[in-house]
Amino acid sequence: MIRSLSTKSCSRRVAAALSSSCSGKRFNSASTTPTPAPIPAAGDRKLPPLSPRTRDFLARLIRVDQAGELGADLIYSGQHAVFKRTRPDLEPLIAHMWDQEVYHHKTFDALQTTHRVRPSVFSPLWTVAAYGLGVGTAVMGKEAAMACTLAVETVIGGHYNDQLRELVALIESEAAVAEDGRASEELRELAKMVSRFRDDELEHLETAVEHDAEKARPYILLTETIKAGCRAAVWTAERF
Ligand SMILES: [Fe+2]
Ligand SMILES: [Fe+2]
Repeated sequence: MIRSLSTKSCSRRVAAALSSSCSGKRFNSASTTPTPAPIPAAGDRKLPPLSPRTRDFLARLIRVDQAGELGADLIYSGQHAVFKRTRPDLEPLIAHMWDQEVYHHKTFDALQTTHRVRPSVFSPLWTVAAYGLGVGTAVMGKEAAMACTLAVETVIGGHYNDQLRELVALIESEAAVAEDGRASEELRELAKMVSRFRDDELEHLETAVEHDAEKARPYILLTETIKAGCRAAVWTAERF
C-alpha cells in the first residue's frame, strides 16, 4: 500500500524539478519535523506580486490543506485523550505524531493569514468529525486507531503528491516567463514545505503499518470508509 503511492519516484521527480527551479539550492526532502522552522507572518517580509492564476491556486491549496491539517490535529488529539488513560504505552507515539500535525496545522493557519485565504465553510464540521473519529477509533483499540492513521495518511499522502505535481508545473511555467528565470519565492518555499509535510504523513503511514493497522477488524470496511470520508472532505474543502 505504501508503494502504491509511488512516493519514492515522485519524490525524486519533484526534488529534481525543485532543485532546478531553486537557483541550485539542493532541496532536502528529509522526513520528520523535529523543530518547527519560523513561519513567515504577514508583514514580516515583502511578498512578490503573484499572478491571478497563482493566487487562485494558492488560495485553493491553503484552504484544503488547512482544513486537512485541522482534521489531522484533532484526530490525534482524540486518540491521545483516550490512549493516555487506556494505553499509556502508546501515548509517546501518538504524542509524537500529534506534535507534527499541530505544526502542520499552525503552518497553514499562518499561511491563511499571510495570504488572506478564508477557511473552509465546513471547518466546524471537520472539527467535530475528526475529533469523533479519533476518539472512536481509539476506543475500538490500538489496531483500529492505527488503521485510521493508515487510511487518512494514504489519502493525504496522495493528495500532497498531487499538489506537488501541480506546484512543480506552476513553478516551471512561472520560471519560463520570469525575467530572471525564477518562479516566485513563495511558490518555491511552498513546494518545499508541502514535500516535507508529505514525508511526515508517509512516516505516520509507515508507523501505522508497523503497529498492526492491518490487523484491525473489520479492516477493509474501516479503512475504505475513512478513505472515502477523507476524499469527500478534500473535494469539499477545495471548493467551499
Ligand atoms: Fe499533517
Ligand atoms: Fe499525518
